[in-house]
Amino acid sequence: MTSECLQKARNFEEEHMKRIHPDERPCYHMTGGVGWINDPNGFSLYKGEYHLFYQYHPYSNEWGPMHWGHVKSRDLIAWERLPVVMAPDEDYDKDGCFSGSALELADGKHLIMYTAVQQVAKDDGTTEQFQTQCMALGDGVNYTKYSGNPVISKDQLPKGGLIADFRDPKIWQEEDGTFYSVIVDMLEDGNGAALLYKSTDAFHWEYCAMLDSSDGKLGNMWECPDFFELGQKQLLLVSPMAMKPDGNEFHVGHGTAAIIGAYDKKTYTFTREYVHAIDSGIDFYAPQTTVTPDGRRVMIGWMQAWTNSKFVPEGVKYFGQLSVPRELTMRGGRLIQNPVRELENYRGELAAYTDVPVSKEVSLKGVSGRVLDMTVHIHMDESPAAADTSEGKQSFNSFMIKLACGGEYYTSLCYTPGTSTLRMDRSHSGYLYDIVHSRDIKVTPRDGELKLRILLDRYSMEVFINDGEQAASLTLYTPQSADGITFCAEGAARISVEKYELRFPF
Ligand code: FRU
Repeated sequence: MTSECLQKARNFEEEHMKRIHPDERPCYHMTGGVGWINDPNGFSLYKGEYHLFYQYHPYSNEWGPMHWGHVKSRDLIAWERLPVVMAPDEDYDKDGCFSGSALELADGKHLIMYTAVQQVAKDDGTTEQFQTQCMALGDGVNYTKYSGNPVISKDQLPKGGLIADFRDPKIWQEEDGTFYSVIVDMLEDGNGAALLYKSTDAFHWEYCAMLDSSDGKLGNMWECPDFFELGQKQLLLVSPMAMKPDGNEFHVGHGTAAIIGAYDKKTYTFTREYVHAIDSGIDFYAPQTTVTPDGRRVMIGWMQAWTNSKFVPEGVKYFGQLSVPRELTMRGGRLIQNPVRELENYRGELAAYTDVPVSKEVSLKGVSGRVLDMTVHIHMDESPAAADTSEGKQSFNSFMIKLACGGEYYTSLCYTPGTSTLRMDRSHSGYLYDIVHSRDIKVTPRDGELKLRILLDRYSMEVFINDGEQAASLTLYTPQSADGITFCAEGAARISVEKYELRFPF
């Protein structure tokens, strides 16, 4: 049965969505119907279609009592909007239906596992927060919360675990039929931990082990975990809060980390080997993965930074976008991310240039736009007269691409071989708030070039460096009329460019 609270959200969305013209949204990045969204949730294949939910507060552009919004797709690019599926309408989740995941059960039902939030008033006038794990079952459109909720609560926490920050279950099923869930928790000692639970029926859960913890080094609380095998390694993805800066790898505050290691399934022992950032840009958090029918592991993230999220640009009618779905592989010990290959089905006209010499600012015919898929190869030339850099001798000191460029506006990517850095900078994108606008990313040319695949989609830019070795995302709210692209170098650079228009018939 649809509760009053859920019906209200559905009605509100339907009525208010009308005032947002499709041109005011990105073409292939998901946004909420109206209002605010954050983390992707319940990313799963159900009856042959991809279902994707998201943390949703339809009533304003700010975070508020969390609902779950819902879309589905056949190809991860064209999404169909479905009614809101969950509202905070039970005692145990009255303060929010927080993040979680989903999977298809053998009996054909779609199972959601999410975190219920409940603030309980105490006798001394303060409140205590309870975060418990709950289930909901549905048919791909309508979902009913399980009558036995919550299914994991305080008494199933390990010693030292706190119920106030115990959330974001990621559920999966192993071949032998056993269900597992990795859930993050804040421990009494101030560390975040990833806890493993198991169940034979998905409703009765047993604590197995602590897989890993922040250990005073990788932030404090962790959020939105994922745990899977990829390319002979085991990966634990987490979004740590309150990180300390670490060179150019991690910046202060909220971050994303791929913890790469080995896993012994029998003893539930995860052995961490090394860690690197998942996305080195400004706006990316809380990613979640699923597996396609042909076996590809695909990840999608919230394309927004928490810290900047209170600064909603003027005139924006909804707030929050999800990243492009990214195919994950392993190469050279790193997590490799590339846009899902389905995006290529939407490629239109190609403008291609080979070995273009660049010094003063130039534009290339056919290379412009705000919805595109462009690869720029910056060739690493060596000439006797070239300047010495750590990468050898280069005939340029820096090379800059300006995008979403027009009038006073541009967003830039600037490669400096001497410091091996790529700086992404949106200071001139039209944002009028003093928030984070640039990031320096350590990059290394491969096979004589630095290769940048750049996706633009009206209000965002995602960059995939060296065939997905690194990724960096940012949102940009520049007027759409600013659609120029220019290239320039301090010195003499040589580039090749393939730029595809992207066309969406929906
Ligand atoms: C991460 C997060 C989750 C939580 C959700 C609440 O962005 O803080 O830990 O479940 O957002 O909206």
